[in-house]
Amino acid sequence: MKSLIVCVSTSHGNTRRVAERMAEVLHAQVLEPEQVDPHTLGDYDLVGFGSGIYYMAVHPRLWRFLGRLPQVDGVAAFTFFTSGAREIPLTSYHKPMGKQLAAKGFQVIGLFSCRGLDTVGPFGYIGGINKGRPDRHDLDRAAAFAERIRERVAGSRAAS
Ligand SMILES: Cc1cc2nc3c(=O)[nH]c(=O)nc-3n(C[C@H](O)[C@H](O)[C@H](O)COP(=O)(O)O)c2cc1C
Repeated sequence: MKSLIVCVSTSHGNTRRVAERMAEVLHAQVLEPEQVDPHTLGDYDLVGFGSGIYYMAVHPRLWRFLGRLPQVDGVAAFTFFTSGAREIPLTSYHKPMGKQLAAKGFQVIGLFSCRGLDTVGPFGYIGGINKGRPDRHDLDRAAAFAERIRERVAGSRAAS
């Protein structure tokens, strides 16, 4: 099974740590958007797209990359992010990514999120919020998530 994780993690490496843990399970490479030729994505069985949340959105570098994706034929995909605040329906960060991926022919089969150390603005004065996160529990959850996704993709490949 050929898997790839595309990730932007500019603040504390929080999202990168989550990506690396998922990558261990998926035997995937973790690359920055600029390291990936979007036209190769159709060659993968599974692609993950992840980012920290910056001013209520995924990083513009990931968003630009999503805009450059070619049309693919049902490649399985998942989205993930880390953020300072818990996601509420009003701030669903997965939704716009999922919509964009579906429009390009990806089949979005999972989403994952967890809190990450956040030192932006006034939080910096108190050493940040969510200190130590993603922690061991978050990373174990990320690994379990990746395992479920892996089994699902492997199962559908076996069936076809
Ligand atoms: C410039 C900036 C803006 C941020 N804006 C938000 C935000 O709007 N909502 C939120 O929940 N967290 C926000 N955060 C916190 C980050 O989403 C959080 O720290 C995340 O784990 C960073 O991931 P990274 O270390 O992979 O870059 C912001 C952080 C930075 C540096």
